[in-house]
Amino acid sequence: MQIDIYSDPHLYDAAHVWKTNDIEFITNCALEHGDPILEMASGTGRLAVPLIKKGFNYTGVEISEPFVEFTKKKLTSINTNYNIVQGDMKSIDLKQKYKFIFIGFNSICHLLTNQELSAFFNCVYAHLMDGGLFLIDTFVPNPIFLYRPKHKTYVMEFDLPNGERCIVNEINQYDPDTQINKIKWFFESSRVDQFIFDMHMIYPDTMDRLLNESGFVINDKFGDYDMSPFSSESHLQIYSCTK
Ligand SMILES: C[S@@+](CC[C@H](N)C(=O)[O-])C[C@H]1O[C@@H](n2cnc3c(N)ncnc32)[C@H](O)[C@@H]1O
Repeated sequence: MQIDIYSDPHLYDAAHVWKTNDIEFITNCALEHGDPILEMASGTGRLAVPLIKKGFNYTGVEISEPFVEFTKKKLTSINTNYNIVQGDMKSIDLKQKYKFIFIGFNSICHLLTNQELSAFFNCVYAHLMDGGLFLIDTFVPNPIFLYRPKHKTYVMEFDLPNGERCIVNEINQYDPDTQINKIKWFFESSRVDQFIFDMHMIYPDTMDRLLNESGFVINDKFGDYDMSPFSSESHLQIYSCTK
């Protein structure tokens, strides 16, 4: 069966319990730069939860309606100092400016063309206060991954909401002309479901150019959450930008 993990917040949360290594870094950025905070592509509130627990004034923009409804319920049980808005991060107009805006966990790769990336950067620019910080956290495209053999590769395993163990294997097909990596995940438990999604491989030189064209100044580029400088060995590209 075809599934859409971005329509199923319980499945998304179950599959991503392992992703915690960015929380301290994002929280420290928030502590340093202050609120109000805007997260683009806020998902199921994975990063909203620790920020709201610390008392920050937080807004998340998320395109998936089921995720928005689920997240509102999840966050209300913590406190009500948040706003989750359903919308497209390329074009939303929140009629407010923010001190700290971020997009985490490779979400920027869902913007599939450079035109979409530029529209997104312009939208962020319009929402960023003077002196505010814009942070991007995404992986560096890796040719070993993009051009690997065409057989299923193990990605992760986790417990489904019904308690069954689920193994995720994937295959991918990369098109260097469009720079889009087509990924097929096989969720294998007592049955096999497929989730197919596209990711835009954004190379650092493209990111630099499009950010500059949108008026951003890149102040720091880190290669990991420990804030080590970005290098040719880095797996992550973490951008810290101002207007
Ligand atoms: C990898 S998940 C990350 C979610 C969350 N930020 C986290 O760290 O767990 C990517 C999210 O981007 C959302 N998304 C994709 N395109 C979007 C768009 N154009 N505007 C807003 N959200 C979008 C998806 O629905 C999904 O929730």
